[in-house]
Order: sequence, then C-alpha cells, then structure tokens
Amino acid sequence: MSNPAATPTAETAPDATLLEDFATLSAFGATSGGGVDRQAATAADAEQRAWLHRWLTARGAEVRYDGVGNQFGLFTVVPGAPYVLTGSHLDSQPLGGRYDGAYGVLASAHAAYRAVSRYGASGTAPKYNVAVVNWFNEEGCRFKPSMMGSSVFTGKLPVDTALATTDPAGTTVEAALRKIGTIGDYAGPDVAAYAEIHIEQGRELENEGVTIGLVDSTWAARKFQVVVRGEQSHTGSTVMADRRDALFGASLLVVAVRELAEQSKDFPLHTSVSEMSIEPNSPVVVAREVRMHVDLRSPDEEFLAAAAARLAESVPGIEERASVSVELVQTHGWGVAPFPAAGVRLAARAADELGLSRRPMMTIAGHDSVNMKDVAPSIMMFVPSVEGISHNEGEATDDLDISRGTDLLTEVVDRLMSGALDTEAR
Ligand code: GLV
Ligand code: MN
Ligand code: MN
Repeated sequence: MSNPAATPTAETAPDATLLEDFATLSAFGATSGGGVDRQAATAADAEQRAWLHRWLTARGAEVRYDGVGNQFGLFTVVPGAPYVLTGSHLDSQPLGGRYDGAYGVLASAHAAYRAVSRYGASGTAPKYNVAVVNWFNEEGCRFKPSMMGSSVFTGKLPVDTALATTDPAGTTVEAALRKIGTIGDYAGPDVAAYAEIHIEQGRELENEGVTIGLVDSTWAARKFQVVVRGEQSHTGSTVMADRRDALFGASLLVVAVRELAEQSKDFPLHTSVSEMSIEPNSPVVVAREVRMHVDLRSPDEEFLAAAAARLAESVPGIEERASVSVELVQTHGWGVAPFPAAGVRLAARAADELGLSRRPMMTIAGHDSVNMKDVAPSIMMFVPSVEGISHNEGEATDDLDISRGTDLLTEVVDRLMSGALDTEAR
C-alpha cells in the first residue's frame, strides 16, 4: 500500500491500492462481457454508492446527500472554509464500460484522502477543505437528460423537474432515489473550485502517445426528442398509397441525420439517432408512432446551429413522402465554452512536475464539469482510452495511466486546497 503522506513522485508502477479498489468497484453491476450495467438509482447503483459511503467514512469523511441524490464525502480540515470539490459519476450506460465516470470518482476519493493526509503529516493547514462528489445520473439513459445531478446543483435544472422525470417504466427519479435511500436535504458544500478526471473516450491521446489531456473547451451539443406520428394499419392488406407509416418516416429522418455528418465540410460534425421506441411494435402492424432521440455535436457552435436548421428543413419533405407528421424539439444542449485558462496552467505545471506528457484538448463528450465550470473555477483532465472505445463493455485504460492520472489529480487537489488558483490571473 502506498503512503498517502509521501512526497509526490511520478509513478513508475501502478498504485496497487487504487487498482484493488477499482476492481472492487468494477464488480458492482458487472456484466459477462467485462463491463458494467449500473444505471442511475438501480440496485447496482445502490450497492456502489453504499461501498463509496463506507470507503469515505472509513477515511474520516462525512457523507451527505442532497435533494437529487448527489453523494458528497466531506473532508473538513478547516471548519467553516469552502471546499475544493472533486468527483465524477458512478452510474453507467446499459452494458457500459468500467471506467466512464467511475474512474473519476475513485481517483477523486484517493486524491482527496492523499491530499488531506499530506496536510496532516506536514502540520500545515490548507486554505480550503476538500469534498468528493458522485453526481447522480450523469449518463441520462434511464432518466433524461444527462448530467442531471450537476445540472440541479448548478441551478440549470429545477430539482422538482428532475425528481418528477420518469424512466420508461413510469418510475420517477424521486421514487427510485427513495427506494435506494440516497436522497437527503443537504444543500451541498460552498465550492471554491472543482476538479474532475475522466477517460478521454476518444483516441487522440493514444494516437499521440500523450498521457494527460487538459481540457480547455467543450464541443457544442444539441439533443432532440423526435415524435413521428402516422396511422396504425395492416402490413399486408393496406395498399401502399394509403399507408402513413411512422417507422418509414422515422427511417428517413435517421438517414437525414447521418447525411448531415457526411455532408459537413468546414467543421467536424458528429450525429446519431441513438434511441427509438416504436408503437405498437408488432409484426403485422404498420407503426402509428415512433419516438427517437437525436444527438448532434460540433466544435463550432454556428456550424452546429446551421446543421440543426438543415435537419429542421428536411422535415417537410419527410412528412410528405411518408404521410406522417414529425415533431422535433430540442431538449438539452450546451455551447462551445472555455474552461478557465488559469486552471489549465495549474494542471499543466503539476503534470510537468510529475513528468507526465500533456496536451490541451476539447471535450466532445459531456461531463459534470461542463456544468460546474459555469459556477466555480473548474479543471478537467483526461487519461487515454484504449482505441477510443467507450459506452461499450470493452472500454479500457492502462493501469499505469489510471495511476498517473490519480497522481496528477492529487497534485491538482492539493494546490487548489492551498488556494493556488485564487492568485492566478484568470
Ligand atoms: C454525456 O452526458 C454526453 O451527453 O456526452
Ligand atoms: Mn462520463
Ligand atoms: Mn458516459
């Protein structure tokens, strides 16, 4: 076991305690394909939350829950002082990977504990306390939208709206959280700064042989709910001219979404129809209604807006061709927005001192830090993903990268606790 109070050095072998804890965490909701399935407020989510609760309290933190199930582990060193908050999310996609979010929460728990131990061993007091956070429902699969817990915490989503959101079976967030018992009345800590580490979920770091990505900005994203309405009829006896086939209309829209990306020249554009439900979804019935989720992303906000406009323009032609109506409503999104340059500089210096190669990069995926950066100075870091695989049971990151990323997060948390970002020019 490594000594948390030891002087920092770049790891040459992975930290065995960290890897042991990661293996324990990866067993909750483990799938036969090597991944995990622990969607928000399910039994597997409850188990991992209980494990994290015990891990944190065993190391001196007080664990509290807010009104949307965000889980906070407070290490209070200087009573009354604000907290450096560090964390990510433990929930996963269905048949998801072991690393997405979970790595960041575990790294944060280790980093916070190490930093507190170091201050204790040195006899010096930091300016700020540190708290670990496991944000509720970052993935937005069982309950939409994604980044739910951090959206409520940062005032972007009313708590009542979040609690009333239902899963496909009609269970509300509130009922699901009460069932697993991780909902409380804690208002959350006063946050001095926020730090998050995550797997890249792309292949740029691996391609370039770089260990650390320092996120300086977000790609923009727009997400839409689409309802295609037709008329239910017999697949055999209804003449083709009479059909109002909602699934045919939906299929034309799926192709239109893909073509947006294929035809984009000036900037990259990533597009998908990622979820579909068909009514009545029966073999001898032409579908009367299809609901879909559309996801569009680009590093250029205006280009993304133009793509969304082109998608909307394709609707009348689809409605006419399939004799259906199409409702297209944007439900969630964010812009191209910077992370504070001072935070990137602080993390870059820490990486240099640990001898870790690093480069600036944008995040394409959404993260809780994308919300947090709007209310507190925030630092977002990536470690490499093997072959860029993510939202897949095959997600992987090398053990040494897991360990080095945690070393870097420890340095960053330690410096944030000392108030280092307060004196940096923004
Ligand atoms: C994550 O929530 C994303 O939308 O990328
Ligand atoms: Mn994630
Ligand atoms: Mn994810």
